[in-house]
Amino acid sequence: MAPRIDQARLLRRLDELAAFGATPAGGVDRQALSEPEIAARSYVLDIAAARGFRSFVDPIGNLFLRREGIDPSLPPVVAGSHLDSQPRGGRYDGALGVMAALECLEAIDDAGVAHRPPVEVVAWTNEEGSRFAPGAMGSMAYSGARPLAELLASRDAEGIAVADALPAILAATPEAAPRPLGAPLAAYLELHIEQGPVLEAEGIPVGIVTGIQGARWFEVTVAGEAGHAGTTPEAFRKDAFVAAQRIVAELRAALADRDDRTRFTIGRFALHPGSVNTIPAEAVFSIDLRHPEEDRLDELEAAVRRIVAERAAPCRAAIRPLLTIPGRRFPDRITGLCAEAVRDCGLLERRLVSGAFHDAQFIAGICPSGMIFVPCRGGISHNEAEHVEPEHAVAGARVLLAALLRLAA
Ligand code: GLV
Ligand code: MN
Ligand code: MN
Repeated sequence: MAPRIDQARLLRRLDELAAFGATPAGGVDRQALSEPEIAARSYVLDIAAARGFRSFVDPIGNLFLRREGIDPSLPPVVAGSHLDSQPRGGRYDGALGVMAALECLEAIDDAGVAHRPPVEVVAWTNEEGSRFAPGAMGSMAYSGARPLAELLASRDAEGIAVADALPAILAATPEAAPRPLGAPLAAYLELHIEQGPVLEAEGIPVGIVTGIQGARWFEVTVAGEAGHAGTTPEAFRKDAFVAAQRIVAELRAALADRDDRTRFTIGRFALHPGSVNTIPAEAVFSIDLRHPEEDRLDELEAAVRRIVAERAAPCRAAIRPLLTIPGRRFPDRITGLCAEAVRDCGLLERRLVSGAFHDAQFIAGICPSGMIFVPCRGGISHNEAEHVEPEHAVAGARVLLAALLRLAA
């Protein structure tokens, strides 16, 4: 019997998972290592345990669920994504990749298929980076891109470090055995929503991702001087907001590109001390900068640094990198295999580059990796309104299953 995706089971599981951290507007707030994210981990662990799949957790909390292979000594073929979400995120970003991978494992189990290498599902820790920066923390630690100690020391807005939050997940998942970071993987596949408009516009249910553009995050701190709002004349002011506003306006003008390939976002902006009648002494804002070409990204970063350095007067400004993710091209062997899986499912082949970053970007550094995209309505993501048509979720899972079977054959 050939393994088959159980459509009703997959859709039900996606609904059930969305209850963890559900927001009134229909999205989820399931930030990394929060209570709802820990509950979501227990939910997938229970499904795995009921199947007799073993589970493992590594020192950054990456969670692995394993269907044993004929040869348990072989490195596993792995599929997954992340269970954490943006503070007001959607139900599918990350969740689809984990639940579809689990559905594949169950479909293989239902069919009683024996595979030589073990096949595993992974949920990487803190992909989003909204609570603890940087994002893609679990895959960075696993692939050795950043030292574990540095990531464990990252703190959220309340001052809680990753290292402080991790024991709760270990306590909630006692059945998961410890596994070291970087244990060899045979291959890694990630199904994800596109988070952009391309596939929907073209009516393509499943796309093959050839690579991911580079991303860089910075934090800019503009230091001025607090003063009385009612008495301080213009010439005496060192208003951190005014300086920050000038910097932002110049950045937007300098980074605008005619072909619309540069992505520049300020997603966080805070003024201190934050009082109506005090001139702001400090403005702190984030920058998310992306471009598909690394050389161009270098030029853009240089422009950002120059403008921040030159345009703050009479205030002072400093810039601090929060995250650097190099662009990544997936190996032809894996994109080719995904293309075969798409054809196995009777679908047309469409290749595209990812604008969003993903754990696969880092895991590609340690094993052959690739990604499969499905459309999301209006290209909307990082938004509670994020929506995936059920038939697209199922089509993505079918392609993932076909690709996994080829890899594990
Ligand atoms: C991932 O969440 C990204 O920001 O690309
Ligand atoms: Mn994601
Ligand atoms: Mn995301």
